[in-house]
Amino acid sequence: MSAMATPARVLCLPGDGIGPEVMAETRRVAEWIGGHRGFRLSFADGLVGGVSYDAHGTPLTDATMRQAMDADAVLLGAVGGPKWDNLDFQVRPERGLLRLRKDMDLFANLRPATVFPALAEASTLKHEVVAGLDILIVRELTGGVYFGEPRGIADIGNGQRRGVNTQVYTTAEIHRVGRVAFDIARKRSRRVCSVEKANVMESGLLWREEITKLHAAEYKDVALSHMYADNCAMQLVRNPKQFDVIVTDNLFGDVLSDEASMLTGSLGMLPSASLGARQANGKMHALYEPIHGSAPDIAGRGVANPLATILSFAMMLRYSFDRSDDADLVERAVGNVLDAGARTRDILQPGKRLVSTKEMGEAVVTELDALARGKTGAAKQKAGV
Ligand code: IPM
Ligand code: MG
Repeated sequence: MSAMATPARVLCLPGDGIGPEVMAETRRVAEWIGGHRGFRLSFADGLVGGVSYDAHGTPLTDATMRQAMDADAVLLGAVGGPKWDNLDFQVRPERGLLRLRKDMDLFANLRPATVFPALAEASTLKHEVVAGLDILIVRELTGGVYFGEPRGIADIGNGQRRGVNTQVYTTAEIHRVGRVAFDIARKRSRRVCSVEKANVMESGLLWREEITKLHAAEYKDVALSHMYADNCAMQLVRNPKQFDVIVTDNLFGDVLSDEASMLTGSLGMLPSASLGARQANGKMHALYEPIHGSAPDIAGRGVANPLATILSFAMMLRYSFDRSDDADLVERAVGNVLDAGARTRDILQPGKRLVSTKEMGEAVVTELDALARGKTGAAKQKAGV
């Protein structure tokens, strides 16, 4: 896109808890990119989650949903908090996020777990187990037990109740997320590990069979392996570097990506991209969000780590706007800032400099300025995917 083109329209939905704080720092970075790289961005703001419930009685209004559909990309902070924990299921903050995912048909959730060299010591795992780690979890995001019918809680008499959720996948749903995983693996180390519970669940068996068929038909150049989800959970802490791309369903992906995030030292470092299908007009719905939640315990105190949201913006540049150079630049700035010793509380280590949310955002922008002047300072970093 040239400087003269219409600006790319980004809808920012800061949400609840630390969402607004980490979003504010990411906006600084986004505005820097918009101002310095010949790539114009325009921003709109909206409400999602508990703040939307408080204002409108629903965690996502139809108007905000329409804005999200119209935007070129959506950047989300986080949703939820104890204040809204006792709400009816249909209006809980999480439903706002789930509706965005479902209505935009964001079936492929990319969750990279990359260890920045400066943070290898911050992991609870041994340095040699995680140093240089670079894995990508591709989580199916619009199917499975999150959305399957029937669902609900029913009275079954005698003071007993029954809770039901349904794990369900079709061939098409498995193939489309499988293709995303195989295509990305081709740009990495060409290895995909497909994860399910084919030993216990029919939907898992179907998953395994369909991934195997897709692989045989279209992706023979990629090495495919299969693993049960429980074994994968164990292997992720035993020897995470055996993995390159992991493709899995919605629920296992939710759990395994939280686990993978801790390999990197902090949940506060991990970005994600949720992508839909490329449409006939070339447009692709996409939503970018940090993996960490709303962290109500530290909200409003200026101590949250904004890097996962900043790195989510970098993923937006790469996947929605085809601006890999800009994405690399943001990732390099983040790596350099960490190399220089700046640390929010969650990644603080002895001898490093404790900074606030705002100071971290400022440090990234200052580093972007330095990089733009050709003063690369610290070693180049590789991050993200
Ligand atoms: C995530 C979160 C969400 C999920 C919640 C907030 C609905 O845990 O993005 O991983 O379960 O998908
Ligand atoms: Mg989760």
